[in-house]
Amino acid sequence: MPTQDALLYARHIEYRSHQIDEVLSELGYDTLLIHSGCPEMHLFDDQHPPFRAHAPFVACVPEPHTPDCLLEFRVGRKPRLWFCQPEDFWHLPPSPPAGWWAEALDIEIVKSPTDWHEVLRKSRSMSVIGRERDLGDLLHDGADLNPSRLVARLDEGRTRKSAWERECIARANDLAARGHAAAAAAFESGASEFEIHLAYVAAVGQDPGELPYNSIVGLNEHAAVLHYQVRSPQRPSRDLSFLIDAGASVFGYAADVTRTWTQPEHSSFDDLIEAVDRAQMRLCEQVRSGISFVDLHRRAHLAMATILEQAGVVNMSPDEMLATGVSSYFLPHGLGHFIGVQVHDVAGKVSPSGQSLPPPEQFPALRLTRDLEPGNVVTIEPGLYFIPMLLDKLRASEFSKQVDWRVVEEWQPFGGIRVEDNVLVSEAEPVNFTRQAFGELA
Ligand code: GLY
Ligand code: MN
Ligand code: MN
Repeated sequence: MPTQDALLYARHIEYRSHQIDEVLSELGYDTLLIHSGCPEMHLFDDQHPPFRAHAPFVACVPEPHTPDCLLEFRVGRKPRLWFCQPEDFWHLPPSPPAGWWAEALDIEIVKSPTDWHEVLRKSRSMSVIGRERDLGDLLHDGADLNPSRLVARLDEGRTRKSAWERECIARANDLAARGHAAAAAAFESGASEFEIHLAYVAAVGQDPGELPYNSIVGLNEHAAVLHYQVRSPQRPSRDLSFLIDAGASVFGYAADVTRTWTQPEHSSFDDLIEAVDRAQMRLCEQVRSGISFVDLHRRAHLAMATILEQAGVVNMSPDEMLATGVSSYFLPHGLGHFIGVQVHDVAGKVSPSGQSLPPPEQFPALRLTRDLEPGNVVTIEPGLYFIPMLLDKLRASEFSKQVDWRVVEEWQPFGGIRVEDNVLVSEAEPVNFTRQAFGELA
């Protein structure tokens, strides 16, 4: 009996092969090769960051950390994986593919990345995805490297997730939820950013190099640094707030989750977190097939502006704050993005037929501008921040008088708030993988 994973993966690779066959026939190629990549050394060095396979490879093969492999698609044939298992006493060679996923592919084990070159020379019209530097010999026969039309079509194929991909993202959320619970407990017990980070990775059970992105672990005003990258080993003397944006990875599929916390004595900031959390849940409910993500982003601005007005930070109506750009001083990033084998997954700013869909001028950071479709998985991550650089600009603007700067100054040391979930667009109700994961944990 094949396991559930074997069935889901077999259907996934069938779905992917079918998409790829169609694209190859249309563009006049008989073969597509997708390389998994090679580690890239630091300049003038023999050391490299943790290896991560190219995303188009991971979108087909559940081996996100194995270099020098080549996946071969030929129209009408089962995909073949040239799996490189080098004889290497410096590193542990990867185990040969076996079991549940290997059955869905033709597997050829090679001992060196050049072994497959000869075998593949017979193709007449070949397209290749990879880096020129890694593939030199393969490209001598006139193969097209990363042809833009083909890449665009592969990207488009990744926007609607198969049941296998949904399962991986859901499981990644289960892992992330465990990490978030451990991080919240560490914050409560007085841990530093670095100690919280360690508690997170221990609970998730993944090395930082396996996580889909560099975790953001910020105490107090560090919560206002959108991609805060430092992990201070010192707990600050004031105990105000904590923002953690950290994910997990399952067969290369990402979870991207943010939560914000405070200590019980800061009840007015806690009320603000609660208000953002409630607004975020209402936005998640609106993740429906057919809705424009740009419209949803505007609704997020209105929701955050409502909170700013009710909290007495800005004395303007939410509509005015949106129209004048005042809400963007407090929410300078986009509402969310596609998520998959890349945390900011591809094709967010093109239409299904490949037309460019740039974000409106007012929202340059918005990473998703499409109408949503069943099978899309998106993040919903509204936030409210007190970012000194932007507050200085607001203070110098004509809207300064409408801001209660005493309230702003009171909250600035708390940094900011973000709440982020991963949500599947379905034919009917949205599926919130993150809330489900936290629910199961409880
Ligand atoms: N973790 C980065 C983001 O939320 O997009
Ligand atoms: Mn995030
Ligand atoms: Mn995100």
